Amino acid sequence: MNPVTLRPLERKDLEAVLDMVIALNNNGTQIDPRYRMAQDGRAVMRQHMLDRWFAMFHPFPVGWVAQAENGLVGFLSGGVLQQNYIIERPPTALIGDLWVSPNHRRPGLGRRLVERYLEAAAKAGFDQVEVGTLTRDKRAVAFWRSLGFSDWRTSLCYSSTSASSTRQTSPSDSISQGSSSSISSVKK
Ligand SMILES: CC(C)(COP(=O)(O)OP(=O)(O)OC[C@H]1O[C@@H](n2cnc3c(N)ncnc32)[C@H](O)[C@@H]1OP(=O)(O)O)[C@@H](O)C(=O)NCCC(=O)NCCS
Repeated sequence: MNPVTLRPLERKDLEAVLDMVIALNNNGTQIDPRYRMAQDGRAVMRQHMLDRWFAMFHPFPVGWVAQAENGLVGFLSGGVLQQNYIIERPPTALIGDLWVSPNHRRPGLGRRLVERYLEAAAKAGFDQVEVGTLTRDKRAVAFWRSLGFSDWRTSLCYSSTSASSTRQTSPSDSISQGSSSSISSVKK
């Protein structure tokens, strides 16, 4: 396989990254059907990228792409956490999206993208980095843990339309299936 290089995201990458955003969201829906992209999600995301990624100052590159000979095969996007001054926290960066194309997985490309981002964030003084993922996504959870991210918050979801089926589930089953929550991880 030809080498894959990492570089900061540029304006010319917009449509290729949007393709990967769609693939990432479809992957999420397959894992948990409650996670669904809005019908106009691509247009909304395009505008978000134009307004926030390309038109604003960032203390370090908040988007990275993995460039192969024939195009992009992965990307990572993030940003800076807006501080809530009631909670004492070091300067914190966020990881929003991470995608590696299926035929480029497992020689360490996801790890390289994250490490490059952590390095750039740390250089800019952001020593703490947070990411959230679907609890049901065992692969993603294993991936983040393997990079040294540890669980620190759980978000729980209640739906009145599916409450009866949820209630029939025993507490121990819910825990083992991670049925209705997402987790946030932090790396420091
Ligand atoms: C998660 C994802 C980014 C991993 O990318 P990758 O390039 O295959 O991962 P790496 O090769 O860098 O793997 C690093 C480590 O993560 C862990 N890991 C990766 N994939 C795994 C899997 N399928 N099962 C268990 N552990 C896994 C392993 O510890 C691996 O180290 P090892 O190969 O030495 O065992 C990729 O599978 C992907 O794009 N998935 C769909 C989108 C997604 O889940 N994004 C993250 C959501 S927040």
